[in-house]
Amino acid sequence: MTLIASRFEVRPLSAALGAEIRGVDLAKPLDDAGFTQILKAWHDHSLILLRGQSFSEDQQVAFGRRFGEVAPWSRFAAKEKGRHPFIMLVTNLKENGEFVGSLPEGEIEFHSDGIYIEQPSAGTMLHAVAIPSRGGQTAFANMYKAYETLPKALKTKLDGMKARHAFTYNSQKQGENDHKKAAEDVASYDHPIFRTHPATGRKALYVNRLMTERIVGLSDDESREILAGLYAHIETPAFIYEHEWQVGDVLLWDNRCLVHARRDFPAQELRLMRRLTIAGEKPI
Ligand code: SIN
Repeated sequence: MTLIASRFEVRPLSAALGAEIRGVDLAKPLDDAGFTQILKAWHDHSLILLRGQSFSEDQQVAFGRRFGEVAPWSRFAAKEKGRHPFIMLVTNLKENGEFVGSLPEGEIEFHSDGIYIEQPSAGTMLHAVAIPSRGGQTAFANMYKAYETLPKALKTKLDGMKARHAFTYNSQKQGENDHKKAAEDVASYDHPIFRTHPATGRKALYVNRLMTERIVGLSDDESREILAGLYAHIETPAFIYEHEWQVGDVLLWDNRCLVHARRDFPAQELRLMRRLTIAGEKPI
């Protein structure tokens, strides 16, 4: 039996998923025993929250590296020239009339980061620097629970099947990515509809409203009908935790077993998040 020192307090955030870890200061060194407790909480709860953090971008990257290789981001490199190579700004901040970051405004539908590439992100970390007075919550749905509660006949039918995922970088709503999309001009990849988490060994449903294009091998109509049912199932309130941001929050979520969505917020109010992604493996 492995004994893990309970140095930090771990408090579940909801019945659906998530835990707050209290007593961590990410601006200070974190020893291996402390990190082991945090990693276990991440695997047990799929999302961890550390409130009241004030730390540098390099300290954020160093914390991320404890979970695995961190992924440099390049999508919008031209826009953020001279910025940290691993920290992407998710913000509506403008300089000289131009957005300085990515995903600046509005609602974003449920998705899993990087699902449209061969080795999608394992985790995503957001650090809240500025938040609007209302809206802008990030909602998470538990895809283990979504898988476990699927009707048996549907589990049997979809077992071993793949779905194709695609993403146009300026699309935050479904419709631009589904079925009709010309695959050549967007990043696109096929992954198992049910994936097994490499650390927990649990199975999770792995499709989402924003980025899943179709079920491979089914007709358009059947694929659309099944996916619509899966999306409605994923959004069962009992599977969802909606995070109300506070400045200083650090959230790290697991893209292998959660999907996330952003609620709308007033465009004229500043929202600024520092985002770091942890590289992942090919889903199986
Ligand atoms: C994202 O979908 O990665 C951004 C989430 C957010 O801005 O809350």
